[in-house]
This record gives sequence, structure tokens and C-alpha cells, in this order.
Amino acid sequence: MAVNARAYIDCDALTHNLQQVKNIAPNSHVMAMVKSNAYGHGVDYVVDYLTNADAFGLARLGEAERLRQLGIKKALVLVEGFLEPEELRAVEQYDLEIVIHQHWQLEALKQQPLQKPIRVWLKVDTGMHRLGVPGNQVNDILSELKNCAWVNPKIRLMTHFASADEVDSPQTIQQIKNFNDVARNINAETSLANSAGIMAWPDSHGHWVRPGLMLYGASPFIEQAPNDNSLLPAMTLTSRLIAINHVPKGGSVGYGATWQAPEDMAIGVVAIGYGDGYPRQAKNGTPVLVKGNVCPMVGRVSMDMITVDLRGYSDAKIGDTVTLWGNGLPVETIARWADTVPYTLLTGVTSRVEFLHL
Ligand SMILES: Cc1ncc(COP(=O)(O)O)c(C=O)c1O
Repeated sequence: MAVNARAYIDCDALTHNLQQVKNIAPNSHVMAMVKSNAYGHGVDYVVDYLTNADAFGLARLGEAERLRQLGIKKALVLVEGFLEPEELRAVEQYDLEIVIHQHWQLEALKQQPLQKPIRVWLKVDTGMHRLGVPGNQVNDILSELKNCAWVNPKIRLMTHFASADEVDSPQTIQQIKNFNDVARNINAETSLANSAGIMAWPDSHGHWVRPGLMLYGASPFIEQAPNDNSLLPAMTLTSRLIAINHVPKGGSVGYGATWQAPEDMAIGVVAIGYGDGYPRQAKNGTPVLVKGNVCPMVGRVSMDMITVDLRGYSDAKIGDTVTLWGNGLPVETIARWADTVPYTLLTGVTSRVEFLHL
């Protein structure tokens, strides 16, 4: 049997994690973020386990088209709206909801009569300075949108947080205040919270929450946050041990000879590398589980392999299953060792990896 890295997707964990969202924000609708192939988990499968969500959030038209082709009837929201005016035809055809964040989008929408009113979310920039219109323009833009016969007049207001994953950051408090200052006198449904907002900033729950990472069982916080131990990891990335070598004291391992054996010892070679999405930046000492035993990674990550210190597990055998992250080894831990975030690891698993949805 071929040795492939495998990503096991625990689909019931997705359903469980969505329920956690609902437990934490019981009065909010849920827009489940399934952009970027459901954070790398395989959107075609994932959506079937998130049927309790009220809408799906996507970043590209093609992602929404895919879900409609799969027969998904749920509300689909393009969180960056249409990226060029021509996309409006498809927005209408696939019955998509759009976020407006730029004046050119407003103008394009006004100039493009549509057969039936579409749902619009107006994004307000409350301090992240990425997408959104300034708060002092919201009323004027809302009037223009409401004058447009092909826009559903029940426009929703949304914003996005820059630092909600830093629980001590004053920026989130300021962003919530800025948003409330705008929304207070407007009769509109609101949406502010990503996963970190849901978990750490209850004042931000509003009418709609927009969980992404937490649905997949990972915490957005660098440090553990109060609620996040109730999440179950949806992806477990595994491979196998393909070689065991005896390296003498002082012998170096891997490209660049960046690590030397401190004593005569066994080194295991695992069939996974950056060609599979394992992060090349992972440092010496990054934990790896060989048949459940922690064996630190040593030496550089190569395209197809990594090397691990087997001193802590003398029974290791070629063929043993190796876990890179997931059950028993949080992806957040690996992200820390690789100076990155769980988002990049989960979305970065490549097509060479065999996905098994359980
Ligand atoms: C507009 C918007 N809302 C919500 C999310 C979900 O964020 P998270 O994965 O941190 O929950 C994202 C993700 O980047 C986003 O772009």
C-alpha cells in the first residue's frame, strides 16, 4: 500500500463545534465561514455537517458557485462582495448575498438592474482599515441602497475585528464602540464577531456571528481562552515512519546540517514535508506523535520528509502511524512552533495528501 500522508476529517466534530458556537451565542444567527475550501477541510463534505448554520460565508464567487452546483440551498454570503461588476450577473443567477464595502461596488450595483432584490450587507470600517466604509458615510450609503429597487431594503450592518484574538487588546473594545455608535440609530441586523469575538467578546455577538476557525476545532487565541477546551479538532494529519537510522554522536541530520545528535541515537524518518503542507519553519523540538508517543522533530523539514528524535520511544517501527497535528496534538501547538497560526496550517494542506472524511 502506498504511503501517503492522510488528513482524517472528523465530520461530527464540525457539528459539535457548531453547537458550541450556538451555546456561546444562543441569540445569534450563525454564518458558518466555509471559505478557502472550508479552511482546508473539504467544503463539499463539510457543508453537510453544518446544516444547522443559517448561512455560509465565502470569499470568492467560484466558492459560492460550487456550493450551488452541489445543491446547497442555504443563504450564501460573499464576504468581500463582488470583485468586479461582471460578477453581479452570477450573484443574481446563484442567488447570493453580497457585502458592499467600497463606493465602486455601490455604483456598479445601482447601474445593474436585477430581476429580484438581492440581500446586501454593508461593511463598516471600525478600525481594522482593511475592508469597510467609514462610519460617517453609512447613513448616506444606506439611503442610496434603499432607493435601489433591486436591493432588499433590510440591509444588514457588519464589521470585522483586527485584534479580537488578543484578549487584553483595547482595540476590540474601541471597535465595538465605534460600531455601536453607527448602528445605534439604525434599524438593521448586525454582525461583528469572528471566532475570537464569539469566545472572548460577548458584547460583540449581535444578530449574526461568523465563526470560522472554531468550527474546525482550533482556537484563535495564542493563549488558551476560557471556552476553547470544548472544541474538537476536525482535522488530524497523519503519515508513517518510513525509515529508522542510527546516527552517531555529533552526526548531523538533514539539509544544512542544522541539528547534531547529542549522543548515539535513533532517528525516524516520516513521510511528510512541506510538499504536503507541513510547515518548513517548524523548529527543532516541534512535537510529533509516533504511535501516540511524543518524538520531537529535529533538523530541517524537507519537501517530502521530516526527521524525528526517537529516544523517547524505543519501540518505534517502520510503518508506525505518525500524527502531525489533530487528535492528541493541537494544531495550535504546531502553529506556535512554526511561528505561524492554525489558519495557515489547516488551509495549507496540499492535494498530495489523501483526505478521508469520517
Ligand atoms: C469577514 C470575516 N468574518 C469572519 C471570519 C472568520 O474568522 P475566524 O476564522 O477567526 O473565526 C473571517 C475570516 O477571516 C472573515 O474574513
